[in-house]
Amino acid sequence: MAATDYLVHGPRVAVRRVHRQDYAELSALRRESAEMLRRWLGAREMTVDAFESSLERFEQPTHEGFVLCLRTTGAIVGGANINNIVRGSLQCGTLGYTAYASTTGFGYLTEGVGLVVRYAFGPLGLHRLEANIQPENTSSLRLVERLGFRREGYSAAFQFINGAWRDHERWAVTAEAVGRTSHGVER
Ligand SMILES: CC(C)(COP(=O)(O)OP(=O)(O)OC[C@H]1O[C@@H](n2cnc3c(N)ncnc32)[C@H](O)[C@@H]1OP(=O)(O)O)[C@@H](O)C(=O)NCCC(=O)NCCS
Repeated sequence: MAATDYLVHGPRVAVRRVHRQDYAELSALRRESAEMLRRWLGAREMTVDAFESSLERFEQPTHEGFVLCLRTTGAIVGGANINNIVRGSLQCGTLGYTAYASTTGFGYLTEGVGLVVRYAFGPLGLHRLEANIQPENTSSLRLVERLGFRREGYSAAFQFINGAWRDHERWAVTAEAVGRTSHGVER
């Protein structure tokens, strides 16, 4: 992928929009990570049809889909979405993200999701991002905490995952709060 496709980058990770050509790489990453992802995201096989539907969704102004890539090789190390974007006087969206079995535990997601947050509050013009996280998902809680999110509340029976309605903690960050933290982002 040409470096010019990158929207924003940090020392090790660069962010670009997900492309149709990413299907083979992403579906292989999903397959190798099935066990790790099932626990928090539910069973989600990435069929061609499912991938195509997500691309269609990302063409809407209400959704953005990104991949997080290693700057040295271009290899995908994670994914991040901003869903349910509301404009007007709210300028907010809901953040989702994932690492993969071979890419977790290196700090790539902290850097990459941090870049997505900066991009959201910069070029995308958003003001607030929320993340909904199951209380036992400690890796995810640590990640948003590192990025300056604050715990705002507790949503009982928030999302249907793996056959049950799961409680989630609601975390959020605003443009003002992120301006007060630094993650070494270059544009
Ligand atoms: C949540 C999730 C994205 C977190 O990913 P992650 O790999 O922990 O995040 P990072 O890539 O930022 O790595 C951070 C970890 O790498 C460690 N690390 C190792 N080398 C590092 C380096 N050079 N720089 C920074 N951190 C480094 C950090 O200490 C940290 O470990 P810790 O959380 O045990 O303290 C991942 O667990 C995941 O994909 N889970 C399944 C899907 C999911 O739950 N999505 C979110 C739903 S709300």
